[in-house]
Order: sequence, then C-alpha cells, then structure tokens
Amino acid sequence: MPLIELADVSARHPAARAGALAIDGVDLEVRAGEVVAVIGPSGAGKTTLLQTIACALRPVQGSVQLFGSLPWKMARARQHRLRGRLFLAPQVPPLPPRQRVVTAVLAGRLARQGFWTSLRSLFYPVRSDEARSALARFDMDDKLFDRVDRLSGGERQRVGLARALVSGAELLLVDEPLSALDPTRARQAIASIVGAARAGGATLVTTLHQVEVARENFERIVALRDGHVMFDAPVRQVSDAMLRELYADHEDELTSTLEGAAPYAYTLPGEFDVERPMTCR
Ligand SMILES: Nc1ncnc2c1ncn2[C@@H]1O[C@H](COP(=O)(O)OP(=O)(O)OP(=O)(O)O)[C@@H](O)[C@H]1O
Ligand SMILES: [Mg+2]
Repeated sequence: MPLIELADVSARHPAARAGALAIDGVDLEVRAGEVVAVIGPSGAGKTTLLQTIACALRPVQGSVQLFGSLPWKMARARQHRLRGRLFLAPQVPPLPPRQRVVTAVLAGRLARQGFWTSLRSLFYPVRSDEARSALARFDMDDKLFDRVDRLSGGERQRVGLARALVSGAELLLVDEPLSALDPTRARQAIASIVGAARAGGATLVTTLHQVEVARENFERIVALRDGHVMFDAPVRQVSDAMLRELYADHEDELTSTLEGAAPYAYTLPGEFDVERPMTCR
C-alpha cells in the first residue's frame, strides 16, 4: 500500500483566481521509505504539490490518501493526528524573532510531544542534546543558544532543516531546502537530509531547483510543469533530453548551482526498485 496516493488531484492557491490551477490532474504514488525529488521550472506547482500532500491545502478535485487513510473525510481530531505523522518544512521556516535556536529546532517535535513537555521546553529546552546533534549535521551546533533573528538567511534555512530532522516524522516534505545555501553547505545539507531519512526509514519528498542535486542524491524524480506531471521516473532513466524539454523556455533555471558538481554523474543508491516503469506524459 502506498504511503502517499494522489489520484487526479487538482489544487489552487487560496489567493489564486478561480480556474487557475497550480496542480492539475496529478497522479502520484509514493511508497514508505522512498526518497523522491520533485523538480520543474518556477511556478510549475512544486510547493502546491507538497502542501496538498501535507493536507495543508484541500484539493478542488481528486483524492488524497495518506498512510492509507482519506484525510479530507476524517474528523478534525483524527486529521490533526494524521498531520502529526508528517513534517512539512517550508522554504523559509517560520521562526519567531528572539527565539533561541535550540527552542526553534525542538519546536519540530511539538506535534509528537505532550502539552506539558512542550510547555516546559519553552522555558528550558529539555532535549538540547538532540537539537545540538541535529544542528551538527548542518555545521550549526555552535549556534545552539543564539537568537534566530541574528542568523543569516542560510543559517535560518539550516535551522529549519534541523527542525525537520528532530521531528521524528514518518513523512518529511521539504520545500527547496537549498535555496539560501552556498554550494558546499548545499551538498552537506542534502546529504544530511537524505541520510537521516534513509537511516530512520522515513519517506522523503523534496522539491529542488538543482537538477544535478536531484540526480546525485535521489532515486526517483517527479517532474512538474504547468501543474502537470511531465515525467515520473527512476533517476537512471532521466535523460538530458527530458530535462531540456522540462525546462524549455526556462533554460536559465537549468544551470548547475553546485560548483564542481559533475552535472550528470550520479550514483544510484542500492536496493531500490529501479525497475519501476517510467511514466511520461
Ligand atoms: N500567493 C499566491 N497567490 C496566487 N497564486 C499563487 C500564489 N502562489 C502560487 N500561486 C499559483 O500557483 C502556481 C504554482 O505555484 P507554486 O508555488 O506551487 O510553484 P513552484 O513550482 O513551487 O514555484 P517556485 O519554483 O517558484 O517555488 C503559480 O504559478 C501561481 O499561479
Ligand atoms: Mg515553490
């Protein structure tokens, strides 16, 4: 049974005009433990897709199944519990000013921990070791007690990623995790996220602008354009021609942002079902 199952799903941003669909007729199945990159030009619907999977956005058409259940047919309390099993990391993490990094990171656990633990951790971060080790994966452990409003954009982004790691969620949905990072940090960050997901057996769906990062680190690529799935394939089947077609008229977005990256050299992680048939529409 897939962990995520979208069937003919269409959704639009709440502020969009009627009729303007951000994703349109999307079918997608992701099994537990898969590590998937979603790519496509700006405006393709990547963020909207993640929000739809996270039940943060109700589709206008189609069905969303998560963990084998239909979240939009559930009572609120059950839906809330279901959301607690996933973590949506937005491109710009919402970090209250004046908050300490340690508190901001541990906020990732809020959906899973009890009320009293959450309240206590506002005054004294009870699991600071956990926050420190998550931050260390992003070379940020020296900032544990700094205030978040004194961090750079890239540092804040890494705090957001550390928060995703401590969440312990079964499903991690990460939006553009590398947008504010320099090439070296970006490499480290993506390796940490993918490594943590694999080590913990979590399912990971990440949107990315950098196609070469997707090819190097992920086993499956879902390509969106104009709200449609253009292809959904194991990484070894993704050709340069497919990428050129995906980014046609957006060639400026198909540039390597990782210095020294061998653009189309990638390794395929072991033991994944590489025989999955490619769908291309
Ligand atoms: N705030 C908004 N108000 C109205 N419409 C929006 C808004 N945000 C997104 N949309 C619509 O949804 C479409 C898909 O946007 P989305 O943010 O999902 O794309 P994306 O692939 O994540 O783009 P990017 O790579 O720039 O982050 C946009 O083309 C736009 O039409
Ligand atoms: Mg986006």
